[in-house]
Amino acid sequence: MSETAKKPLAIVTGASRGIGASIARRLAADGYHVALNYSSNEAKARELADQIQADGGSAEPVGFNVAESAQVDEKIEALGKAHGPVAVLVNNAGITIDGLLMRLKDEDLDKTLAVDLKGAIYCTRAATRQMMRARKGSVIQISSVIGEMGNAGQSAYAAAKAGLIGFSKSIAKELASRQIRVNTITPGFIETDMTGALTNEQKEGILRSVPLGFLGTPEDIAALVSFLASPSSRYITGQVIGVNGGLYI
Ligand code: NAI
Repeated sequence: MSETAKKPLAIVTGASRGIGASIARRLAADGYHVALNYSSNEAKARELADQIQADGGSAEPVGFNVAESAQVDEKIEALGKAHGPVAVLVNNAGITIDGLLMRLKDEDLDKTLAVDLKGAIYCTRAATRQMMRARKGSVIQISSVIGEMGNAGQSAYAAAKAGLIGFSKSIAKELASRQIRVNTITPGFIETDMTGALTNEQKEGILRSVPLGFLGTPEDIAALVSFLASPSSRYITGQVIGVNGGLYI
């Protein structure tokens, strides 16, 4: 048996940068073989896999578009065949196309729902097929505080992220008898490319609304993923856990 075959398999979608990359690093350090999903930036995913390997971990880039169910099924099935059943799935891939409802284009609404909501559902369906046979597993959704509290100009994103919460609570109930746990993390403002586009003025405005007074880091999210993946959280399922500095309480 190869070295990687001994490690339980974790899949992180949208893993090439930002929060996903940090989650992938953390799970690799925790001893998983991490499948680094990317949609377009293969070079970046490969670079991350190399870094993880240099740090003594195990990872491989796996390209698929989470919004394409046939690709999702094929790639996740192949990963399971190569490494054993998926132990941990982190649905992190996400996009946001902001704008007021009056100007919301059908195609932007469709794209947002396709990636942020349907993509997570496709990946969950494919991975939990394997988890059901193994009678164990942990699914972790990366939703958003926006799905809980709403935000003017982000209605499509909020709808997708709130939808993810309802979906996850439902499947937590469906899958609990197989010892598959499903939990949702709702990050607040985390410093990544997504928030890098904000102006300093916008950032100052945000900080005034965060009781702890600072922006979170991708590592703050990865730390909770690590816990929710591990047996230390074995009695936690169907929960929505905010990592938001107190922004939404
Ligand atoms: P990011 O934009 O840096 O990363 C998102 C990743 O998803 C990228 O690697 C992108 O290539 C990938 N992706 C997009 N569409 C995809 C598709 N169709 N198939 C596969 N991969 C795809 O964003 P960031 O900030 O790292 O966000 C990660 C997650 O955290 C997202 O779901 C986001 O909505 C959520 N989040 C982020 C917050 C923040 O403050 N940065 C706050 C709340 C939630």
